[in-house]
Amino acid sequence: MLNLFLKLVLLFLSCFATLCKTCNQIEKESVLSIKLSIYSPAINWTSSVDCCLWEGIECDANGRVTHLQLPGRDLSGSISPSIGNLTHLSHLNLSHNHLSGPLPHHSLLSLVLVEVLDLSNNSLTDEFPSSLLSKVIRLFDLSGNNLQGTIPSSFFQLSAGNLESFNVSKNSFTGLIPSFSWTKTSCILRILDFSNNDFTGPIPPGLGNCSRLQVFRAACNYISGSLPDDIYAATSLEELSLHVNSLSGPISNTIVNITSLIILQLYSNNLTGFIPQDIGKLTNLTHLYLHVNNLSGSLPPSMKNCINLIKLNLRNNKLEGDLSAFNFSMLRHLRTIKLGNNNFTGSFPSTLYSCKSLTAVRLSGNNIEGEISPEIVALESLSYLSLAQNRLTNATAAIKILTGCKNLSVLALSKSQFQGQVPSWISNLRKLQFLDLSLNQITGSIPGWLGTMTTLFYIDLSYNLLSGEFPKELGGLPMLVSELQTAKKIGGSRLELPLFIPPNINASNEEYYSLLSLPPSIFLQNNSLSGRGQFHTFSISNFEGNPGLCGDIIETSCSIQTRTNNNPVPSPSESSKKELVYGLTAGVVFGFIIGSIDLSVK
Ligand SMILES: *[C@@H]1O[C@H](CO)[C@@H](O)[C@H](O)[C@H]1NC(C)=O
Ligand SMILES: *[C@@H]1O[C@H](CO)[C@@H](O)[C@H](O)[C@H]1NC(C)=O
Ligand SMILES: *[C@@H]1O[C@H](CO)[C@@H](O)[C@H](O)[C@H]1NC(C)=O
Ligand SMILES: *[C@@H]1O[C@H](CO)[C@@H](O)[C@H](O)[C@H]1NC(C)=O
Ligand SMILES: *[C@@H]1O[C@H](CO)[C@@H](O)[C@H](O)[C@H]1NC(C)=O
Ligand SMILES: *[C@@H]1O[C@H](CO)[C@@H](O)[C@H](O)[C@H]1NC(C)=O
Ligand SMILES: *[C@@H]1O[C@H](CO)[C@@H](O)[C@H](O)[C@H]1NC(C)=O
Ligand SMILES: *[C@@H]1O[C@H](CO)[C@@H](O)[C@H](O)[C@H]1NC(C)=O
Ligand SMILES: *[C@@H]1O[C@H](CO)[C@@H](O)[C@H](O)[C@H]1NC(C)=O
Ligand SMILES: *[C@@H]1O[C@H](CO)[C@@H](O)[C@H](O)[C@H]1NC(C)=O
Ligand SMILES: *[C@@H]1O[C@H](CO)[C@@H](O)[C@H](O)[C@H]1NC(C)=O
Ligand SMILES: *[C@@H]1O[C@H](CO)[C@@H](O)[C@H](O)[C@H]1NC(C)=O
Repeated sequence: MLNLFLKLVLLFLSCFATLCKTCNQIEKESVLSIKLSIYSPAINWTSSVDCCLWEGIECDANGRVTHLQLPGRDLSGSISPSIGNLTHLSHLNLSHNHLSGPLPHHSLLSLVLVEVLDLSNNSLTDEFPSSLLSKVIRLFDLSGNNLQGTIPSSFFQLSAGNLESFNVSKNSFTGLIPSFSWTKTSCILRILDFSNNDFTGPIPPGLGNCSRLQVFRAACNYISGSLPDDIYAATSLEELSLHVNSLSGPISNTIVNITSLIILQLYSNNLTGFIPQDIGKLTNLTHLYLHVNNLSGSLPPSMKNCINLIKLNLRNNKLEGDLSAFNFSMLRHLRTIKLGNNNFTGSFPSTLYSCKSLTAVRLSGNNIEGEISPEIVALESLSYLSLAQNRLTNATAAIKILTGCKNLSVLALSKSQFQGQVPSWISNLRKLQFLDLSLNQITGSIPGWLGTMTTLFYIDLSYNLLSGEFPKELGGLPMLVSELQTAKKIGGSRLELPLFIPPNINASNEEYYSLLSLPPSIFLQNNSLSGRGQFHTFSISNFEGNPGLCGDIIETSCSIQTRTNNNPVPSPSESSKKELVYGLTAGVVFGFIIGSIDLSVK
């Protein structure tokens, strides 16, 4: 009742505010033909009422439609050419629907007053609307469609006057990024997003004249050449994301002029030279991702002043130098640090123990020596530690300390000259889910107590000197036995750092972003295990009732395919539960089969 009353009041007010405008007949027919071209169960446009009062429509005083805004309303179908009749349209927002088909290019010619054009997150096809002639356009968003072809190089010159935000990410555009030469107007852009397309060629010059530019993204394209010099003059930039391209050349030290930078992502390019020596001037930096490049030199000492750093990733470069000489102690917000696959030397940096927020440390694949200090126990949040492939001397002692790291869920210590038996203190790590001790010289038998570690679902003990039989107790590992249970227990558990699985087989490109997407497995190949029967503790019934499984569990090729397939592992989400169960089961199958093969051969 109250609701109805409110509605009436609102109706009256809107009528009053617009001097009881009524929908112009042309407008009404056009809107109706727009409606005919789309399909929406949720929208109630009836021809009996003034079209200016319809949901998502606003008119000016003369009854001309100015706004057509129906974002996220489950609309499907295509955009009718009749939209061109709404010549007074200033706001068009049909984002987050399921609209398909081409844009009505010819009709867009008449929309000369459009300020806001948001058709993002639909399934629109065909080409960029170069026919759009509006000089007043402010916000332009076509991201997340299936558009292709090139963007006219003069686009910004023709319509830049008022353009603040331009987003064409997640399409299939090709060719060059349009020119940023501002000859007629000044650049007032704040947001520019070209990511996830197929753009080629260099980043054109001109961004240095965009004094308000806050976000520039062009990641995941085929952009080449070096970073244009004048980009360093865009001193309002807060985010520069150009990762996964083919950029080459150095990162100029003048990047430190952009003191407002918060996020710098240049990873997976071909950048060379040093990390900017004065990077410590970027005190607002929280994310520094320069991994998978060709950077050399050492960590610039000034980086210790990047006191707001939360994530630091420099892995897979050619960095070197004594890591213990770098002072990490002021990086109090640092949560993850990845320096793996470089050529760092020295001992485990003791100043890192002051970074109490650390949850993940990956230093694998360097030349780090010495032992781990008991101080590491002070890193109470540490859940991920990978020190694999270093030169830790007396690894046995070095890692014994880790027993105090009660929150460890991932422990990767492969290829660490680790000797002796599987250390029993590991059983104290009650949250451990992932244990990789492969490529060491571990002797003795597989300890039965592993079977009491209820969270553990990934064990790699391959390439060691283990002997004896496969312990019955492991058959009880709930994580290995029941995929349903697994799904429940580790549900949503997100890895701090992606894992590269498996380290000992050439599939190192596979990144697992979540423990959830990691198939539970036990790897025991290349040991000296004996006996066979024990494997029957992995009851065949675990594999029944999974018609989605690729074939018979005895069929090794199928399982190996599972292990080496190149499909990206789905990131965890509710919708990927099916794939999860599939992955889990397949993983168990594979582990089982590798074990069987080895055991039956021996
Ligand atoms: C659609 O709107 C009209 C007029 O406002 C109303 O009479 C009718 O009941 C509505 N239909 C639905 C399905 O909501
Ligand atoms: C609206 O536009 C379409 C296509 O451009 C045209 O065929 C039609 O006659 C126009 N309708 C009105 C009512 O003007
Ligand atoms: C379009 O509508 C969506 C949903 O309300 C909103 O988030 C978005 O900012 C709008 N687009 C523009 C350019 O205003
Ligand atoms: C696009 O919209 C669909 C539903 O309309 C939604 O599920 C999806 O998350 C959206 N994608 C993005 C990138 O916003
Ligand atoms: C551009 O659009 C994409 C997809 O709609 C969105 O995820 C992204 O955040 C937008 N870029 C900027 C800088 O807002
Ligand atoms: C940047 O602005 C200056 C001064 O207005 C102008 O001379 C120069 O041509 C502009 N550069 C580009 C690439 O637009
Ligand atoms: C960086 O800042 C310095 C000092 O303010 C200035 O001299 C220099 O021209 C700037 N470099 C660029 C590329 O803007
Ligand atoms: C990096 O440069 C090398 C040598 O110039 C080239 O072979 C390689 O394809 C480049 N990689 C990328 C990602 O551009
Ligand atoms: C750094 O961040 C703070 C807090 O958000 C802000 O007040 C300050 O202006 C930023 N510094 C620069 C140089 O942008
Ligand atoms: C890395 O840089 C070195 C020179 O510093 C060069 O010889 C090598 O080809 C580069 N590698 C790639 C992949 O670009
Ligand atoms: C790593 O550093 C050592 C000693 O500084 C040097 O001998 C070695 O060649 C370097 N390795 C690589 C791959 O650069
Ligand atoms: C390794 O460390 C342990 C414990 O500190 C010690 O007992 C042992 O002698 C050390 N072994 C070597 C080879 O240094």
